[in-house]
Amino acid sequence: MIQFGITTLCQLKTANLYSRMGSRRHIDISLYNQTDDPKLQERVLLNFAGSSGVYRRTYAHRFDRFDEQILRSIVSQLSFDPCLVLDVGASDGRSSLNLYHSLRGLKLGGFHFTASDPQPRVLIVKRGRLSIAIDSSADVLQIVWPPFVLGCCGDGYRPINALVRRALREPVRRLLNAYLSYECSARTVSLQCPECRAIMAEHNDFSFISFDMFEPSKRRYDVIRAMNVLNASYFTTTEIKIAVDNLRSMLNEGGLLVTGRNTGPGSPVSGSIYQKVGGMMRKLCDADAPSPLRHYLNGGK
Ligand SMILES: C[S@@+](CC[C@H](N)C(=O)[O-])C[C@H]1O[C@@H](n2cnc3c(N)ncnc32)[C@H](O)[C@@H]1O
Repeated sequence: MIQFGITTLCQLKTANLYSRMGSRRHIDISLYNQTDDPKLQERVLLNFAGSSGVYRRTYAHRFDRFDEQILRSIVSQLSFDPCLVLDVGASDGRSSLNLYHSLRGLKLGGFHFTASDPQPRVLIVKRGRLSIAIDSSADVLQIVWPPFVLGCCGDGYRPINALVRRALREPVRRLLNAYLSYECSARTVSLQCPECRAIMAEHNDFSFISFDMFEPSKRRYDVIRAMNVLNASYFTTTEIKIAVDNLRSMLNEGGLLVTGRNTGPGSPVSGSIYQKVGGMMRKLCDADAPSPLRHYLNGGK
């Protein structure tokens, strides 16, 4: 019927993240910047989605065993120096760091790791009790009007939340217009985890860029990993085909495309590693189960 969100750090630390009906509660995304505790930041991202409805949910050590397979494939198949790695849809980069640290441990001749996400930051516009989180296109991703936190993907079976959303439609529109006409300013919430920022400050072999897998790019990489983003629950078949073709064209000949999905840290991965040979993708190996994307990749069985 009704679901309150999580709007304070104290609630974030102690409150049940699930309602009595078992659905995830929404959490004010601005709390991400109010703590440096990686576990609490992970909580903030659990139910936060971008404008396309793709969740930012991510975990450290989400697919360590699959990462080991990736390392073995890199060692046995690649001789690029430096080896250029792109992690697509990295959210706040915490699962990128696991692969980055393992690559450093390999002591390759040289490598550069690029974590990427289309929206590495969101903007918070606040006036009185109402605040909205928007992306760089000014799409509203979240509305916070304590104790309510409304996501961009609807209210499910919560009619009171739907009513509150309707009542806030006009105030949200006015607040957005006030921001767009420079009447009020916005605060930036960087969605890059603190360890990513620390590593970028210390080392020049790690960067974090804004990248959308649907946008053609002239950049070339030797390894492209796209985990938990090329999912049929997020995108249509046509969209997935476009993204896969795009990523394939960004791979150097002989390079690896790694893709897969899983639910939480250490859970079984449906994923595969492909190699670009003669412009086609040849499967090298599967994780616990093959990637559901095999139908989009020629040579993937
Ligand atoms: C579920 S998270 C996965 C994060 C991380 N790769 C993991 O497996 O834990 C999906 C990520 O894909 C990103 N994403 C959504 N649309 C995208 C697009 N068009 N191109 C690249 N990434 C996208 C989202 O912003 C989100 O951070």
